[in-house]
Amino acid sequence: MCGIVGYVGRPDGHGNAGHSALDVVLEGLRRLEYRGYDSAGVAVVADGVISSRKKSGKLSNLLAELEARPLPETVTGIGHTRWATHGGPTDQNAHPHLSDGGKLALIHNGIIENFAELKRELMAKGVTFASETDTEVAAALLGDIFRTKLNGDVSDGGLTRAMQLACQRLEGAFTLLAVHADQPDVVVAARRNSPLVVGLGEGENFLGSDVSGFIDYTRRAVELGQDQIVTITADSVDITDFYGAPAEGKEYHVDWDPASAEKGGFSSFMAKEINDQPDAVGQTLLGRSDINGKLTLDEIRIDPELLKQVNKIIVLACGTAAYAGTVAKYAIENWCRIPTEVELAHEFRYRDPILDANTLVVSISQSGETMDTLMAVRYAREQGAKTISICNTNGSTIPRESDAVLYTHAGPEIAVASTKAFLAQITAAYLLGLYLAQLRGNIFSGQIKDVLADLNKIPAKIQSILDNSGPLRELARSMKDEKSVLFLGRHVGYPVALEGALKLKEIAYIHAEGFAAGELKHGPIALIDEGQPVFVVVPSPRGRDSLHAKVVSNIQEVRARGARTLVIAEEGDEAVKAYAEHVFYVPETPTLLMPLLTTVPLQIFALELASAKGYDVDQPRNLAKSVTVE
Ligand code: AGP
Repeated sequence: MCGIVGYVGRPDGHGNAGHSALDVVLEGLRRLEYRGYDSAGVAVVADGVISSRKKSGKLSNLLAELEARPLPETVTGIGHTRWATHGGPTDQNAHPHLSDGGKLALIHNGIIENFAELKRELMAKGVTFASETDTEVAAALLGDIFRTKLNGDVSDGGLTRAMQLACQRLEGAFTLLAVHADQPDVVVAARRNSPLVVGLGEGENFLGSDVSGFIDYTRRAVELGQDQIVTITADSVDITDFYGAPAEGKEYHVDWDPASAEKGGFSSFMAKEINDQPDAVGQTLLGRSDINGKLTLDEIRIDPELLKQVNKIIVLACGTAAYAGTVAKYAIENWCRIPTEVELAHEFRYRDPILDANTLVVSISQSGETMDTLMAVRYAREQGAKTISICNTNGSTIPRESDAVLYTHAGPEIAVASTKAFLAQITAAYLLGLYLAQLRGNIFSGQIKDVLADLNKIPAKIQSILDNSGPLRELARSMKDEKSVLFLGRHVGYPVALEGALKLKEIAYIHAEGFAAGELKHGPIALIDEGQPVFVVVPSPRGRDSLHAKVVSNIQEVRARGARTLVIAEEGDEAVKAYAEHVFYVPETPTLLMPLLTTVPLQIFALELASAKGYDVDQPRNLAKSVTVE
């Protein structure tokens, strides 16, 4: 959940475009701040000493500190933005943490699960601690090993060897970066379960929690595997396992461009990303079917014969990604007739689930680093299930640990509140469902072609919603002082209601709750009071059964009790008007694809209301973009 950056350039500054470690590290932290912003800190190696600065609060506080107390210019440095786990977001608990008499600095992402035992062991040796963090324990362990086991001798691997020995003692999830005053041209890093990528430059090399940490300087990246140590200098990158055995990283090209990771003229990343959605859906569809409407998901590298044997699908995800999975469930079961369960990843492996080689586990994750989802995928693989990852981050851990991956091509999603990734996840899940149906012959290829044709019309329909969102924005601003908003939906509208509520909670800090509309009379209707705002996501009147009529009745029921009925309905649906205070129409589209449209007004509503309250919609309080701790 933290942002991590490391850099080493040539000491003479030549050949590395004259970058300074501090500039590179601070630029990387700026781009990674969405991963956590409870505190920030940097450490550089210059003139035989470690110099560091760290401050609680956002990166801007650290920048002010550096303004007041500058660091020396140098070419070796590390930096960190923190999402607090052990110990509050204070200056003292901010990273880096020092050891070995201030000659070693360490930063960390993750949780050291055996830190208490190690702390006791080190205190018994006379080590004292200034913070409450597990990270400081890791720093002290590393420093103690460097000094006592290696006698501070840098000739035999020095910090690298010390890191290997330290990692053999650590339990839990961690990405560690360390520098030492006696090795001024080296940054050493280690990873277990937490994300870390290497950036390759000319006369300079980089480390980052993800490629945003160095995207301004290079797009050559190297994936690191589990339990690996990497040592970077200006001209070398050496990878080993925790016992010193050489290991290989896999180089790939980062296809993001720095501009696309900027706001593009919008007031926030979230606003930009909501407006990126036509492109996010379009890009996710691109190149995945042939001119005959046949799906060509060649990245699904699982034997088709095995996929034909699948008799159960379990979707694993958290938060918004789980709601995308819930939408997908309706579609996959409809097209493939395979029982599909959606499980919150953090609940899944603790309920002793039933799965085997004929179970297909589909994980959905924007970041590909959500620890809850990663651990659930690992568990599923141990039980023999096949695993497919739907993910938005190239080379991240969950796809790497899955049998196959279906990338969403939504581009970098910086805002903590997920929007374009959500629509892209639903789109990718639809493609997977159609692919399985095609493989198994459940539905006629003609039908698949029709669904793909309908999907290809979605980007333009989303654009029309975006272009006509003025009245909705006005309503949102007028409601900025509301204390509670309810959301109702049925069938695929139900997960949309859940997602609409989550968006409002996340960025406007308002109590919001999504319900299955049919559940209302079983209790929640007691919440309806005079003036209670209720969003209702209405199914298409052209849809199946009497779903539409039932939801219109639900609108009447809440309206009759004084609710403010805010309705999302399909263009042409006149039946809802009589009971709606406001109706926001979305273009006509088949029922199963409606979530790609009905979600958009709810995203806009949440964004506009939170903005009217003056909140930071990109970095909401208490949250981080990627939850890489369990
Ligand atoms: C959604 O707006 C939240 N940021 C959160 O629920 C998120 O969807 C969840 O943490 C899963 O993240 P992932 O998609 O990166 O796995």
